[in-house]
Amino acid sequence: MKWARVRWQALAVALPAAAFGVASVTTSVKASRRVSRGEYLVSAMGCGSCHTPKTMGPDGPRADASRFLAGHPEDAELEPPPVLGPGPWVAVSAWDTTAWSGPWGISYSANLTPDENTGIGSWSEETFVGALRTGRHMGVARRILPPMPWGAFRNLTDDDLRSIYAYLWTIPPIRNRVPEPVPPRTAR
Ligand code: HEC
Repeated sequence: MKWARVRWQALAVALPAAAFGVASVTTSVKASRRVSRGEYLVSAMGCGSCHTPKTMGPDGPRADASRFLAGHPEDAELEPPPVLGPGPWVAVSAWDTTAWSGPWGISYSANLTPDENTGIGSWSEETFVGALRTGRHMGVARRILPPMPWGAFRNLTDDDLRSIYAYLWTIPPIRNRVPEPVPPRTAR
Protein backbone atom coordinates (compact mmCIF):
# COMPACT_ATOMS: atom_id res chain seq x y z
CA MET A 1 0.00 0.00 0.00
CA LYS A 2 2.70 2.35 1.09
CA TRP A 3 4.81 1.55 -1.96
CA ALA A 4 1.88 2.03 -4.28
CA ARG A 5 1.34 5.50 -2.88
CA VAL A 6 4.99 6.35 -3.31
CA ARG A 7 4.85 5.16 -6.89
CA TRP A 8 1.75 7.25 -7.65
CA GLN A 9 3.39 10.25 -6.13
CA ALA A 10 6.45 9.64 -8.27
CA LEU A 11 4.24 9.42 -11.33
CA ALA A 12 2.49 12.66 -10.38
CA VAL A 13 5.86 14.37 -10.37
CA ALA A 14 7.23 12.57 -13.41
CA LEU A 15 4.29 13.12 -15.77
CA PRO A 16 4.27 16.93 -15.81
CA ALA A 17 8.08 16.85 -15.99
CA ALA A 18 7.86 14.57 -19.02
CA ALA A 19 5.22 16.80 -20.62
CA PHE A 20 7.41 19.81 -19.99
CA GLY A 21 10.33 17.92 -21.46
CA VAL A 22 8.36 17.12 -24.62
CA ALA A 23 7.35 20.79 -24.92
CA SER A 24 10.90 22.01 -24.59
CA VAL A 25 12.17 19.41 -27.05
CA THR A 26 9.50 20.58 -29.55
CA THR A 27 10.58 24.19 -29.01
CA SER A 28 14.23 23.38 -29.53
CA VAL A 29 13.47 21.30 -32.66
CA LYS A 30 11.56 24.31 -34.02
CA ALA A 31 14.42 26.64 -33.09
CA SER A 32 17.03 24.45 -34.78
CA ARG A 33 14.84 24.15 -37.91
CA ARG A 34 14.74 27.94 -38.03
CA VAL A 35 18.50 28.18 -37.70
CA SER A 36 19.13 25.73 -40.55
CA ARG A 37 16.52 27.42 -42.74
CA GLY A 38 18.23 30.76 -41.99
CA GLU A 39 21.63 29.35 -42.87
CA TYR A 40 20.24 28.08 -46.18
CA LEU A 41 18.65 31.46 -46.97
CA VAL A 42 21.75 33.49 -46.06
CA SER A 43 23.97 31.29 -48.21
CA ALA A 44 21.57 31.15 -51.18
CA MET A 45 20.72 34.86 -51.10
CA GLY A 46 24.34 35.96 -51.11
CA CYS A 47 24.33 38.19 -48.00
CA GLY A 48 28.05 37.49 -47.72
CA SER A 49 28.87 38.95 -51.13
CA CYS A 50 28.36 42.41 -49.63
CA HIS A 51 28.54 41.78 -45.87
CA THR A 52 31.65 39.56 -45.60
CA PRO A 53 35.09 41.22 -45.88
CA LYS A 54 37.45 39.65 -48.39
CA THR A 55 41.09 38.80 -48.73
CA MET A 56 42.87 39.16 -52.07
CA GLY A 57 44.04 35.89 -53.57
CA PRO A 58 45.47 34.84 -56.91
CA ASP A 59 41.94 34.47 -58.31
CA GLY A 60 40.72 37.79 -56.95
CA PRO A 61 38.81 38.63 -53.77
CA ARG A 62 37.75 35.72 -51.54
CA ALA A 63 35.36 35.81 -48.60
CA ASP A 64 37.31 35.93 -45.32
CA ALA A 65 35.70 33.17 -43.24
CA SER A 66 37.24 34.56 -40.05
CA ARG A 67 35.18 37.75 -40.53
CA PHE A 68 31.97 36.13 -41.77
CA LEU A 69 29.25 38.79 -42.22
CA ALA A 70 31.20 41.32 -40.13
CA GLY A 71 30.47 44.17 -42.57
CA HIS A 72 32.75 46.78 -44.08
CA PRO A 73 36.05 46.62 -42.10
CA GLU A 74 36.39 49.62 -39.75
CA ASP A 75 40.13 49.84 -40.45
CA ALA A 76 39.84 49.86 -44.26
CA GLU A 77 41.50 52.93 -45.68
CA LEU A 78 39.77 53.82 -48.89
CA GLU A 79 40.59 56.64 -51.23
CA PRO A 80 37.61 58.84 -52.08
CA PRO A 81 35.47 57.21 -54.79
CA PRO A 82 36.05 58.27 -58.40
CA VAL A 83 33.86 61.00 -59.82
CA LEU A 84 31.76 59.48 -62.56
CA GLY A 85 30.97 61.51 -65.64
CA PRO A 86 27.50 62.05 -67.11
CA GLY A 87 27.63 58.67 -68.89
CA PRO A 88 25.44 55.66 -68.11
CA TRP A 89 27.67 54.41 -65.24
CA VAL A 90 26.26 55.56 -61.92
CA ALA A 91 27.76 53.47 -59.12
CA VAL A 92 31.04 51.85 -58.10
CA SER A 93 32.07 49.44 -55.38
CA ALA A 94 35.30 48.99 -53.46
CA TRP A 95 37.37 45.92 -54.39
CA ASP A 96 35.82 43.84 -51.59
CA THR A 97 32.19 44.87 -52.34
CA THR A 98 31.60 46.09 -48.76
CA ALA A 99 31.62 49.81 -49.70
CA TRP A 100 29.62 51.43 -52.47
CA SER A 101 29.36 54.86 -53.99
CA GLY A 102 26.51 56.19 -56.12
CA PRO A 103 23.97 59.00 -56.30
CA TRP A 104 23.01 58.15 -52.67
CA GLY A 105 26.53 58.89 -51.38
CA ILE A 106 28.73 56.18 -49.89
CA SER A 107 27.23 53.19 -48.10
CA TYR A 108 29.04 50.54 -46.10
CA SER A 109 27.64 47.06 -45.54
CA ALA A 110 26.46 46.48 -41.97
CA ASN A 111 27.90 44.12 -39.37
CA LEU A 112 25.37 41.26 -39.22
CA THR A 113 27.14 39.29 -36.47
CA PRO A 114 25.59 39.18 -32.98
CA ASP A 115 28.20 41.52 -31.47
CA GLU A 116 26.32 43.59 -28.93
CA ASN A 117 27.83 46.99 -29.65
CA THR A 118 28.76 46.89 -33.33
CA GLY A 119 26.55 44.15 -34.80
CA ILE A 120 22.93 43.10 -34.38
CA GLY A 121 23.49 41.73 -30.86
CA SER A 122 21.22 44.34 -29.31
CA TRP A 123 18.52 44.04 -32.00
CA SER A 124 15.29 42.25 -31.22
CA GLU A 125 13.75 39.97 -33.81
CA GLU A 126 11.14 42.67 -34.38
CA THR A 127 13.81 45.31 -35.10
CA PHE A 128 15.52 43.00 -37.60
CA VAL A 129 12.31 41.99 -39.39
CA GLY A 130 11.16 45.64 -39.33
CA ALA A 131 14.37 46.83 -41.03
CA LEU A 132 14.06 44.35 -43.90
CA ARG A 133 10.32 44.98 -44.31
CA THR A 134 10.27 48.77 -44.17
CA GLY A 135 13.70 49.60 -45.61
CA ARG A 136 14.34 51.86 -42.64
CA HIS A 137 17.35 51.60 -40.36
CA MET A 138 16.27 49.35 -37.46
CA GLY A 139 12.75 49.50 -38.88
CA VAL A 140 12.15 53.12 -37.81
CA ALA A 141 14.97 55.53 -38.67
CA ARG A 142 16.70 56.70 -41.89
CA ARG A 143 16.22 54.92 -45.22
CA ILE A 144 18.45 51.91 -45.83
CA LEU A 145 20.66 52.82 -48.79
CA PRO A 146 21.51 50.90 -51.96
CA PRO A 147 22.71 48.44 -52.88
CA MET A 148 21.10 46.64 -49.90
CA PRO A 149 18.28 44.80 -51.72
CA TRP A 150 15.67 45.15 -48.95
CA GLY A 151 13.00 45.89 -51.60
CA ALA A 152 13.34 42.25 -52.67
CA PHE A 153 13.96 40.78 -49.21
CA ARG A 154 10.77 42.38 -47.90
CA ASN A 155 8.91 39.74 -49.95
CA LEU A 156 10.18 36.96 -47.69
CA THR A 157 7.68 35.46 -45.24
CA ASP A 158 7.84 36.44 -41.57
CA ASP A 159 9.03 32.93 -40.85
CA ASP A 160 11.94 33.23 -43.31
CA LEU A 161 12.98 36.64 -41.96
CA ARG A 162 12.86 35.24 -38.43
CA SER A 163 14.90 32.25 -39.56
CA ILE A 164 17.60 34.55 -40.95
CA TYR A 165 17.65 36.41 -37.64
CA ALA A 166 17.81 33.14 -35.67
CA TYR A 167 20.73 31.92 -37.78
CA LEU A 168 22.64 35.21 -37.52
CA TRP A 169 22.49 34.83 -33.75
CA THR A 170 24.41 31.55 -33.99
CA ILE A 171 27.43 32.91 -35.92
CA PRO A 172 30.50 34.20 -34.03
CA PRO A 173 30.13 37.82 -32.85
CA ILE A 174 32.78 40.07 -34.38
CA ARG A 175 33.58 43.50 -33.08
CA ASN A 176 33.70 45.81 -36.11
CA ARG A 177 32.21 49.29 -36.07
CA VAL A 178 31.06 50.01 -39.61
CA PRO A 179 31.27 53.72 -40.52
CA GLU A 180 28.14 55.79 -41.01
CA PRO A 181 27.15 56.40 -44.63
CA VAL A 182 28.46 59.56 -46.28
CA PRO A 183 25.75 61.78 -47.82
CA PRO A 184 26.10 62.68 -51.53
CA ARG A 185 27.06 66.35 -51.01
CA THR A 186 30.21 65.54 -49.08
CA ALA A 187 30.93 62.30 -50.93
CA ARG A 188 32.76 64.00 -53.71
C1 HEC B 1 24.40 44.00 -52.91
C2 HEC B 1 24.95 44.16 -51.58
C3 HEC B 1 24.17 43.61 -50.40
C4 HEC B 1 23.60 42.35 -50.27
C5 HEC B 1 23.60 41.20 -51.27
C6 HEC B 1 23.02 42.31 -48.95
N1 HEC B 1 23.22 43.51 -48.30
FE1 HEC B 1 22.54 44.03 -46.47
N2 HEC B 1 23.36 45.87 -46.67
C7 HEC B 1 24.14 46.30 -47.72
C8 HEC B 1 24.60 47.66 -47.48
C9 HEC B 1 25.48 48.48 -48.37
C10 HEC B 1 24.05 48.03 -46.24
C11 HEC B 1 24.18 49.40 -45.54
C12 HEC B 1 23.05 50.29 -46.00
C13 HEC B 1 22.93 51.58 -45.22
O1 HEC B 1 23.85 51.97 -44.48
O2 HEC B 1 21.89 52.24 -45.35
C14 HEC B 1 23.28 46.88 -45.76
C15 HEC B 1 22.59 46.87 -44.56
C16 HEC B 1 21.96 45.77 -44.04
C17 HEC B 1 21.30 45.73 -42.76
C18 HEC B 1 21.19 46.89 -41.77
C19 HEC B 1 19.83 47.54 -41.94
C20 HEC B 1 19.64 48.68 -40.98
O3 HEC B 1 18.59 48.69 -40.31
O4 HEC B 1 20.51 49.58 -40.91
C21 HEC B 1 20.83 44.45 -42.57
C22 HEC B 1 20.08 43.92 -41.37
C23 HEC B 1 21.18 43.70 -43.75
N3 HEC B 1 21.86 44.52 -44.63
C24 HEC B 1 20.89 42.37 -43.92
C25 HEC B 1 21.18 41.66 -45.10
C26 HEC B 1 20.85 40.27 -45.29
C27 HEC B 1 20.20 39.39 -44.24
C28 HEC B 1 21.24 39.93 -46.55
C29 HEC B 1 21.06 38.64 -47.28
C30 HEC B 1 19.73 38.04 -47.21
C31 HEC B 1 21.84 41.14 -47.14
N4 HEC B 1 21.79 42.14 -46.23
C32 HEC B 1 22.37 41.21 -48.42
C33 HEC B 1 24.42 45.57 -48.85
C34 HEC B 1 23.94 44.31 -49.15
